[in-house]
Amino acid sequence: MLGALAGATLLPALALPGLSHAAAADAAEPLKEIARRKGLRFGTAVGGGRNQFGDAAYRALVERECGIIVAENEMKWQGLEPARDAYRFGPADAMLAWARDKGMAMRGHNLFWQAEKWLPAWVAREDFGADPKRGVEALMRKHVKTVCEHFGSALDSWDVVNEAVDPADGKLRQNALTRPLGAIEQIDLAFRLAHEYAPHAQLVYNDYMRGDAGSARHRAGVLALLAELKKRGTPVDALGLQSHIGSWDDIDGGKNQGTSGRQRDLAEWRRFLDEVTGMGYGLLITEFDVNDRRLPADIARRDAGVAAAARDYLDLTLSYPGLRDFLLWGMSDNISWLQTWDEAPRKDKLPMRPCPYDAQLRAKPLREAIAAAMRGMPARQA
Ligand code: XIL
Repeated sequence: MLGALAGATLLPALALPGLSHAAAADAAEPLKEIARRKGLRFGTAVGGGRNQFGDAAYRALVERECGIIVAENEMKWQGLEPARDAYRFGPADAMLAWARDKGMAMRGHNLFWQAEKWLPAWVAREDFGADPKRGVEALMRKHVKTVCEHFGSALDSWDVVNEAVDPADGKLRQNALTRPLGAIEQIDLAFRLAHEYAPHAQLVYNDYMRGDAGSARHRAGVLALLAELKKRGTPVDALGLQSHIGSWDDIDGGKNQGTSGRQRDLAEWRRFLDEVTGMGYGLLITEFDVNDRRLPADIARRDAGVAAAARDYLDLTLSYPGLRDFLLWGMSDNISWLQTWDEAPRKDKLPMRPCPYDAQLRAKPLREAIAAAMRGMPARQA
């Protein structure tokens, strides 16, 4: 580990006892530069709220560390078309304009989010008429055409379909669009439409499967889906690894928190990634953060646990040189979606610490773990 840490710019900071992580981060090479030297784009999701895109200090942090951003909610269908035909491109356009002004890339998230509760409510209520199959196809085409033509070549990567596999049984989720068309047919059509209207873009299937035992059905379902799409010749370029890692499920009573449990999960994860890349798919990390709900309350121990879990996961995942993008789902703890996500909270109700910066935008050990993992990874394939 020390060997990988001994990047020249990090050394002075490490050598100064008492120097805060914040000061060390200020002095350190930006994460985007460490990434860029290896041919990787590093970035984060940015939310439209007052404490993210609306906050100059947060924006400055993103600008310093990131070479690519993604909108946390503003490019979702619900965000862009909250009511039928009532398009609202303003918030996403503002983020894109800012990113371009600062020389950052931006990727699109997402065209179709399969859980029905994340589709716009009006879509679920829509009357698709006498020929619902035709009606759904027409609506999907209008959505993809409108959105992809609006953003044009500004976005070079799109999450076309998000979370199609139900982690409970590995089957494809059903919603108002899949019921008339069939689930696999709807996914296939989504990618074909994206290919038609955003022919320049990397087309991604994005999901949150992990390496742990509780995620086994999810992994199997995603592999089955990717194999079927390959068979159909569906234009899918890559699998988006959301990478919401850490503790999520209680399936094995927390036993997988120990070192041996973690090694077993990593071995499963490697097997999974080997299968995905073996089918010819690319990889990217789309939404990285570390759920700390089973780590001790003590902040130093908790932050060390988060950093160690991240390092193991990133060392393995970034070892695949076809992985070209690495995005976090938020830079600082206070703005993380996990603070309010109902499946996430800690039993002691303490605020979560899933991100590389704390609420005061001071760097945490997770930032060092990310930097070290990127320093240690192989250069990306050309
Ligand atoms: C989350 C956002 O962070 C929240 O603000 C929103 O309320 C719900 O969606 N997987 C995804 C992301 O693909 O779009 C989700 O983002 C987090 C999980």
